[in-house]
Amino acid sequence: MEKNYAAITSVGAFVPEFRLTNQILETMVDTNDEWIKTRTGIDERRILKGEGLASSDMGVEAVKEILKKKNMMPEDIECIICATVTPDMVFPATANIIADKAGMKNAFGFDVSAACSGFLYSLTLGASMIESGRYKNVIVVGVDKMSAIVDYTDRTTCVIFGDGAGAVLLESTAEKTGVLDSILKSDGAGRNFLHMKAGGSLRPSSIETVTNREHFVHQEGQSVFKFAVKGMADVSYELMQRNNLTADDIAWLVPHQANLRIIDATANRMNLPKEKVMINIQKYGNTTAATIPLCLWEWEKKLNKGDNIVLAAFGGGFTWGATLVKWAYDTH
Ligand code: UT7
Repeated sequence: MEKNYAAITSVGAFVPEFRLTNQILETMVDTNDEWIKTRTGIDERRILKGEGLASSDMGVEAVKEILKKKNMMPEDIECIICATVTPDMVFPATANIIADKAGMKNAFGFDVSAACSGFLYSLTLGASMIESGRYKNVIVVGVDKMSAIVDYTDRTTCVIFGDGAGAVLLESTAEKTGVLDSILKSDGAGRNFLHMKAGGSLRPSSIETVTNREHFVHQEGQSVFKFAVKGMADVSYELMQRNNLTADDIAWLVPHQANLRIIDATANRMNLPKEKVMINIQKYGNTTAATIPLCLWEWEKKLNKGDNIVLAAFGGGFTWGATLVKWAYDTH
């Protein structure tokens, strides 16, 4: 029987207009442009402003861009997977809300909660659904409105995160392109280093949890940093080894944009020069599940059919992983 491959055949994205610059942050907390730039590489991040706007409103824009580019009807889509840690509500899934707002009446949808690795988890899942032969197309969205869960009085986290959305369309093909391999890992023992303390069944929302500011991102930066450097670099290297790829065989590394120093460590481990690494952290900060598709979107015109691309991520959970994609189309 002919094998089905899951090719990425289009990319869409959305970033809000408002730019929260380092200079604005200097007026909000005890920080400075130099510290933020040297420790993280970030100049500014985008923030979704406006009453009643949520992750789904960014996700739907990314999806609409894909439908427009591909000249597809919303009804053509069979499934939507949404990676997010900032769903519109605890339930129902944001994927369902995006599908409704986009008019995707034939699509079923669900969310994946894997923090900064959420896009890789969802992409691997969507690809497996297509490889099974049961589905012909799946949209994978990575979206986070981090401004909804960031404490803007906490200088250790508020300088890092931003809002944004990115999405890809996966389609079935007989050609050996698309998502070719993936190594995904998680370790729940790391949960306390990066999490939101309240709002779940462990500590339901109460006046006390609100007063204690427990509905915001809590991160022990240095510990996460150590795990992230090792985790992301090791898994990317393992993926290269397993697929007999040298640095010369790889066209691009698409790393999760959490910290420029973590990105550099991963590129070094893979022996990749800077020119092959997609970096836009300076413009958007850490948009959690959206960083990787936002890079693919920005670099789309530079990608060539047949390019080997390694996507790599590390995040809360802990979760981490690396995915090998053979690019399926030329845009230019
Ligand atoms: O995406 C999900 C996964 N997350 C990550 O991968 C993030 C991993 N961690 C990091 O990227 C880094 O740990 C941070 C960027 C969060 C922090 O950088 P760091 O180099 O680890 O700084 P630090 O926490 O060791 O803090 C160094 C100093 C401290 O001051 P003292 O104790 O040395 O006096 C902090 O209080 O920097 C201080 N500091 C700040 N100073 C100015 C912390 N935040 C700030 C700030 N502005 N915003």
